[in-house]
Amino acid sequence: MSDNPAPSPAPGMERASDRPARPAATRPGLPGRIAADLEEARARSLALLDSLPEPDLLRQHSPLMSPLVWDLAHVANYEDQWLTGALAQPRVAAHLDDVYDAFAHPRADRPALPLLHSRRARHYAAAVRARALDVLDGLDEDDLSGGAGLAPLLDRGFVYGMVVQHEHQHDETMLATLQLRGVDDLSVPDPAVPDPAVAAPPARLPAEVMVEGGPFEMGTSTDPWAYDNERPAHVVDVAAFYLDTTPVTNARYLAFMDDGGYRRPELWADDGWEWRQGAGVEAPGSWEPGADGWGRCRFGRLEPVPHGEPVQHVCWYEADAYARWAGRRLPTEAEWEKAASWDPAAGRKLRHPWGHRPPDPSLATLWGSDRWRAAPAGSLPAGVAPCGAQQLVGDVWEWTASEFRPYPGFSSFPYPEYSEVFWAGGYKVLRGGSWATHASAVRATFRNWDHPIRRQIFAGFRTARDAGPDATRPVRPVRTGHRQSR
Ligand code: AVJ
Ligand code: FE
Repeated sequence: MSDNPAPSPAPGMERASDRPARPAATRPGLPGRIAADLEEARARSLALLDSLPEPDLLRQHSPLMSPLVWDLAHVANYEDQWLTGALAQPRVAAHLDDVYDAFAHPRADRPALPLLHSRRARHYAAAVRARALDVLDGLDEDDLSGGAGLAPLLDRGFVYGMVVQHEHQHDETMLATLQLRGVDDLSVPDPAVPDPAVAAPPARLPAEVMVEGGPFEMGTSTDPWAYDNERPAHVVDVAAFYLDTTPVTNARYLAFMDDGGYRRPELWADDGWEWRQGAGVEAPGSWEPGADGWGRCRFGRLEPVPHGEPVQHVCWYEADAYARWAGRRLPTEAEWEKAASWDPAAGRKLRHPWGHRPPDPSLATLWGSDRWRAAPAGSLPAGVAPCGAQQLVGDVWEWTASEFRPYPGFSSFPYPEYSEVFWAGGYKVLRGGSWATHASAVRATFRNWDHPIRRQIFAGFRTARDAGPDATRPVRPVRTGHRQSR
């Protein structure tokens, strides 16, 4: 780093935020992209909270979630630590570190903390951002190519990518909070308005596709913004298996329920059955029984359960029980990643199931598709993976059979609290992102994790089965719709 403007002595937050940030467009190259990504994440955070009255921002809507003002100031605090402090600048407000330390205070305790109210939290976030952009302006191309002293933190903008993804991950968490809040005052698009990027799902879609056996490259050593837990790339030999073409739909899940799925202990893992009984659960989260069948409450609006849409708000135990009922199992995360990223014809790994181009609403339902829901199963054929599976990325997070563990050769970077402290904590891995995930925080190698009882996240699943010895000969994968060229 060179030629940083000399910091003013103990500058206050008020002063820094009064200075208008330089527009992203005036920065060339990688710094320009970084500034634009930071801006986009902030616009999303602020827009989510904009319409809410102060009491709703301060209140805890569920003991599982933070008060929304905590998330906002926590995002600012994280940025202050990594984009000012770690880059050798004075901090904007280091005295706030304790209140916004996720490890010092579990979510249930956060409402009792001396939290900044929303106006102060916004001000804090703006002050940190102004300072972070000043620091960015002081970097040159050499710094960002890993050439200078702060490599590898700055290498190809890694620490900026970490902060951008962090804010978007908290935005998704805030959306989960808003879903639990259950009040119909957000600008959620009307489900009756047609979405031109969504194709009519075909009448018939093959239930499953086969993924050929053999080695593939799991994880990444080269994706510049990949987290430590996605590294390093390593070869995994995955036996041939069959995978559901799409995530399990509400219609299929209703068949499980109608067949006594929630009443038959033999379908459940022992601790899963214990959870089901203790929680008294008989349907996915947000579902409500009605005179005309099940409804679901989406951001405070009750609507009939859409049969063709992937099931959402189920925990790992429910996914596991469904798979057993279907005579199948959940895929391992290696199987999931191979299906989502391995191109056997080219013998190479893809960044996304459809290839290397960035996502758009015809390829995957992510944040920005403006759906606020998953697309119907089979309605995004352009996003098909080489194996023929659809909607692996976006729509709903997919529970896998795997525990969250380090890859061989893992080393913590840049801090152990992102991944390392969660190893062996009984967490299950989820893959693929949801409709609430931003494109910057999803790729075929991205790993998410949660406790197997959690249902507040936008998660569903798909099932798998071994192909067995009769499937050693590769079969032509089933193609649905038009295959996009890569
Ligand atoms: C990767 C989604 C499990 O929300 O706990 C946010 C992301 N890490 N702040 C989480 C994260 C630090 C993390 N998950
Ligand atoms: Fe965080």
